[in-house]
Amino acid sequence: MTSPNIQEEIARRRTFAIISHPDAGKTTLTEKMLLYGGAIHLAGAVRARRASRHATSDWMNIEKQRGISVSTSVMQFPYDDMLYNLLDTPGHEDFSEDTYRTVTAADSAIMLIDAAKGVEAQTRKLFEVCRLRAMPIFTFINKMDREGRDPLDLMDEIEQLLGIHCVAVNWPIGMGPSFRGVYDREGDLIHVFERGGGHGSRKVIDQATGRNDSALENLLGPHGVKAFHEDLELLDLAGEPFDHGKFLDGEITPVFFGSALTNFGVEPFLQAFGRMAPPPTARPTTDGPREPANEKFSGFIFKIQANMDKNHRDRVAFLRICSGRFDRGMTAHLVRDGKDLRLNNAITFFAQERKTVEEGYAGDIIGLYDPGVYQIADTLTEGEKIEFEGIPRFCPEVFARVYAPNPLKRKRLDKGLKQLSDEGTVQVLYPPEALSAAEPVLAAVGRLQFEVVQQRMLEEYDVEIKLDALGYTTARWLDMPEDFDHRKFVHTGISDVFVDTRGRRLVVFRDEWTLQYAVRNNEDVVFRTIAPNPVT
Ligand code: G4P
Repeated sequence: MTSPNIQEEIARRRTFAIISHPDAGKTTLTEKMLLYGGAIHLAGAVRARRASRHATSDWMNIEKQRGISVSTSVMQFPYDDMLYNLLDTPGHEDFSEDTYRTVTAADSAIMLIDAAKGVEAQTRKLFEVCRLRAMPIFTFINKMDREGRDPLDLMDEIEQLLGIHCVAVNWPIGMGPSFRGVYDREGDLIHVFERGGGHGSRKVIDQATGRNDSALENLLGPHGVKAFHEDLELLDLAGEPFDHGKFLDGEITPVFFGSALTNFGVEPFLQAFGRMAPPPTARPTTDGPREPANEKFSGFIFKIQANMDKNHRDRVAFLRICSGRFDRGMTAHLVRDGKDLRLNNAITFFAQERKTVEEGYAGDIIGLYDPGVYQIADTLTEGEKIEFEGIPRFCPEVFARVYAPNPLKRKRLDKGLKQLSDEGTVQVLYPPEALSAAEPVLAAVGRLQFEVVQQRMLEEYDVEIKLDALGYTTARWLDMPEDFDHRKFVHTGISDVFVDTRGRRLVVFRDEWTLQYAVRNNEDVVFRTIAPNPVT
């Protein structure tokens, strides 16, 4: 039996991530969401907060120096009758596996695109991760208040590069200095905006008329109206109608146009988002799908962050609740090692503030103080022996041999690397035969992860480490017959084989061509882009 309370709580939750390339406007859009949700009253607060966070989070000196957010964070805020959980993904080109894993904890994503730039590298990578899970994706084309590319071209680019069909939910009225608002195709409504004072820092007026309203001529002039109608006719003729089922299966993406900075199109987007985005759904486990309304509490850890507050040297493990109800002080079962833990000090991040969590439901993200017991992909339950699947370990793209110039620090080096690997900060690999006696190899998705490791090893473990970059650029997990001799892939400098801390074999290649050659010539081997088993 499920109590109606749990059902209602699940139905009002929307857990999502914004995926974008740096500078597309993620911070600005987040800020506007908080503004419209009533969680903050004047835009600018997030940015100010971001600056002050830099000042206080010390271990993230790198973050400060490079002006980026290394860590992902999470924010909960109300909107209408709903509760949004926004997972923030680091906004630098050099992002890490954390970014990927954060996306796996969301139920939908907003793909934010700069209208002048179109689909960029990081958006593309993150899109692929969403794709792996067939996740529903919204598209918001931002910065329409600036001269950008033709909206039809942008939709075409998304279709061509990402292989997802676009359905325009609204259409821009003008662009650049003549951007006047958006037309809602389904409701045949025109949302006209006025540029607000203070650079769009307050809500703007929203009027509505129909597609053929003569007022359009005042807004766009006769040429503009003609072009606008031509676009709409093209869309009506060529465009696919919006199908909610296909959207939920990740086959089509609803497209919205707007300007986060000036608020144009933001509110209609948020309303549509609340209507269309899915509430938490069932998640795969070793015992079949887990329904969010199942009364028994369960969740998984997708991210571990160290030293968010320098005064407390412990870590925070981020848990996504998947079913049941979290109550402060409850005892949860850590399935991996069979321990029971009391969850007294869970925290949540309401708007910009940290609060102690009293209760939580599927879709919520809570931060658990971690004295060193959790690992990435750990499952917590009320005692059941089930584990969540599908928190992938992604193939690394950068590699470096690591050593401590001071040989007396070897033990510390190993201890530190083990912890950082548990946290998911970096992957640690060894040659298959030598295991821990040999010099380990660090592997990561982005080079920035190496810098983080270097800095943390020094600050937290008092070990100076040196890295020798290895010239490999791609890798695959090997799934092969028992009697297959992996030494066949060992040609130092061209390709090599390592094992990870869970004993899985990874083959690394100098370039894509070498990889393709190996794939073509070894039909009995499966080359996997994500680790064959979940990290347990
Ligand atoms: P990010 O988190 O994705 O990296 O992007 P962020 O929101 O920080 O925005 C990057 C830049 O783009 C900022 O300008 C921001 O003001 C601008 N921007 C965001 N949305 C819009 C929009 O709809 N229209 C226009 N014209 N600009 C937009 P900046 O100069 O780098 O920072 P700031 O001086 O405004 O703080």
